[in-house]
Amino acid sequence: MALGGPVVEGATEPLAATVSRMIATRFTTERSVLLPLRAEYSEAMAKVLADPELYAFTGGEPPTAEALAERYRRQVAGPGRPGESWLNWVISVTQYDELVGYVQATVIGDEAEIAWVLGTAWQGHGYAKEAAVALVAWLQAHGAGRVVAHVHPEHLASAAVAAAAGLHRTDQLDDGEYLWVR
Ligand SMILES: CC(C)(COP(=O)(O)OP(=O)(O)OC[C@H]1O[C@@H](n2cnc3c(N)ncnc32)[C@H](O)[C@@H]1OP(=O)(O)O)[C@@H](O)C(=O)NCCC(=O)NCCS
Repeated sequence: MALGGPVVEGATEPLAATVSRMIATRFTTERSVLLPLRAEYSEAMAKVLADPELYAFTGGEPPTAEALAERYRRQVAGPGRPGESWLNWVISVTQYDELVGYVQATVIGDEAEIAWVLGTAWQGHGYAKEAAVALVAWLQAHGAGRVVAHVHPEHLASAAVAAAAGLHRTDQLDDGEYLWVR
């Protein structure tokens, strides 16, 4: 899936054709807190996103803190199109009070496309699964009818995250990535 693209502040109202914009709100998981994105997180997140390996399946490269701040400002501002919302959260591990990654959802109508990234040093501990499960619950609580994700066929860790979040793989390939749906 394309990362670093969409995703911003969403709303607490139900998704519906009449709702023009959702606003991301803080939520928690067992071991982490999901904080609505702010440009101020760019310094810390540039360190989290610094490993070139993170882009093996999605393309792209580590952003500078300055580029990230600019991207975050765009994401927080949103698409400016009625019926479309960019929702972004950073993941903070409660025990360490440290940012470790992010999740995002691009909502158009009642469909949400989701994505997740975890800093290399923090991978392998279930934080991505935990965040994705809670993200899907948040989206459904706010009216999402369908949740989708795109996962590279060889990205087994990401497939495991999607499955944990209740998505199942379809046979549809979009730009070389399987469409997963829930
Ligand atoms: C996708 C990503 C977030 C997963 O992070 P993670 O820390 O490994 O995720 P979790 O620990 O929460 O869960 C991963 C699951 O995949 C499994 N897994 C990890 N690597 C695996 C592999 N090579 N083969 C099979 N399963 C694997 C883990 O065992 C775990 O499942 P389990 O809990 O049932 O054991 C991380 O690899 C990442 O950020 N990658 C770069 C960004 C990216 O490509 N994002 C996806 C596109 S949006």
